[in-house]
Amino acid sequence: MSSFKPLVFSGVQPTGNLHLGNYLGAIRKFVALQESHDCIYCVVDLHSITAQLVHDDLPSQTRSITAAFLAAGIDPEKHIVFNQARVPQHAELAWIFNCVARIGWMNRMTQFKDKAGKDRENASLGLLAYPSLMAADILVYRATHVPVGDDQKQHLELTRDIAAKFNNDFSRRIGELGIGVEMTMGDETLNGFFPLTEPLIEGPATRVMSLRDGTKKMSKSDPSDLSRINLTDDADAIAKKIKKAKTDPEPLPSELAGLKDRPEAENLVGIYAALAETSREAVMAEFGGRQFSAFKPALAELAVEKLAPVAAEMRRISADRAYVDAVLRDGGERAGALAEATMKQVREIVGLLDD
Ligand code: AMP
Ligand code: TRP
Repeated sequence: MSSFKPLVFSGVQPTGNLHLGNYLGAIRKFVALQESHDCIYCVVDLHSITAQLVHDDLPSQTRSITAAFLAAGIDPEKHIVFNQARVPQHAELAWIFNCVARIGWMNRMTQFKDKAGKDRENASLGLLAYPSLMAADILVYRATHVPVGDDQKQHLELTRDIAAKFNNDFSRRIGELGIGVEMTMGDETLNGFFPLTEPLIEGPATRVMSLRDGTKKMSKSDPSDLSRINLTDDADAIAKKIKKAKTDPEPLPSELAGLKDRPEAENLVGIYAALAETSREAVMAEFGGRQFSAFKPALAELAVEKLAPVAAEMRRISADRAYVDAVLRDGGERAGALAEATMKQVREIVGLLDD
């Protein structure tokens, strides 16, 4: 029996500036995976209206994330880069998944609880259904691997739950149509149509923390700009933010165990390791026993060396709006053809007449 073809999918929302967490936790991994896999990278504009509907700068933000993908080294010819809204099959499959997923599953999502805050009744229905659209993004291509930061782990578990329930509920139909892949679930064998997608969450920077508070995630929405390094920051801004980063008075430890209960130290060591493409152990072997006053300038220099070329390339690409738009249009066409092939089969499985 055949199995699912390996395919990588991931998405980034066009809200706010991209920061070091997005870069190390996601985008840099997108770049690396191009060598070994077919990849589809999407600017998820439909997701970005779940929290804030009216976004005057949505078109410019969508182009800016696209420019960041390209500047980081994603090849839009060998792979696919596009914005979600161009391929309406994402929203169509999300509707079907809204009927697969249970309200209780959505209510348990920590991102929903965080974003909805105290007044949950007043959050948009889209914010509640957000993970269902995310599952559709991935599964409309039957993607098998999804590189993301640690904060998306729960959403990917839910994606697997949706795929498993769909496969299970429609197993007979999928078998009759002869379009399934034989899968074992528990002690049962069934005909699955959707893969159980694997999250790719690895390395020293799956969760980059705020430079002002090592217990909080670095985020686009933190009101303090000193809390994050933006992908568009210049060398001076990067150096200043690292200099001002919160630390403790102890020197750096020489071993991993010494980072326990020192979240700021742990964060800076993780950032250094990720930027230098080495392990945290190697960083501590080099800097163990040294003060932050010695470590911070080394970190600032490394960050500028790695990020400045990406920022410069991003500015260059952003200036050519026609090029960015052409990438999105071409990527949208290619993604649309793949998504429609899946949806034709999904409509047949579910019993929705479409011709
Ligand atoms: P978002 O900006 O929320 O669309 O996130 C885009 C990607 O960046 C997702 O894969 C996130 O998991 C990842 N990401 C966001 N913030 C961080 C962070 N602080 N550390 C590591 N990865 C992150
Ligand atoms: N929810 C993701 C985030 O906030 C963005 C996203 C939407 C995504 N659809 C996706 C990530 C599909 C991976 C795969 O970061």
